[in-house]
Amino acid sequence: MTAARNWKSVCAVDDIPLLGARRVARPRGLPVALFRNAEGGIFALLDRCPHRGGPLSQGIVFGDSVACPLHNWTIGLDDGCAREPDSGCTPRFSVRLQGTAVQLDADELATRALDEPPPIAPGNRIVVVCQ
Ligand code: FES
Repeated sequence: MTAARNWKSVCAVDDIPLLGARRVARPRGLPVALFRNAEGGIFALLDRCPHRGGPLSQGIVFGDSVACPLHNWTIGLDDGCAREPDSGCTPRFSVRLQGTAVQLDADELATRALDEPPPIAPGNRIVVVCQ
C-alpha cells in the first residue's frame, strides 16, 4: 500500500499560459516550472536545464517538449530528459488537475532536488504561489 499524496493547490490552470510556463517558488531549493502544452497537458519540472542550468520556464513549449532558451536543447516535459543527441535529466514533480486547480505534491516540493545549483540566467516570469 502506498502512502496518500499530500496535494497542494499552487495556482489555477489559467494562470499558466497556453504553450507557456509559470514558476512556483519553494521555501528551499530552486522553483518548479509548470508548463501547459497545446493539448492542455500540465507538466512540472525543476526550473533548471540539465545542460548548464538554463531556466526552462523561459523556453519554447512545443508538443510534449520545451526548448531551453540558452542552447536550444529539447527537454521532454513528461520525463524531464534531454532528447538525443543530448543527454541528462532535470527532476520531475508530480502534478495533477483538480477542477481548475493545479496541484503539486507538498512532500516533493519540500524535499526534491534541494541541492541543485541556481540557473545561469535568472528567470523573470511572475512567480505564482497560491495558498
Ligand atoms: S543550458 Fe539548456 S541547453 Fe544549455
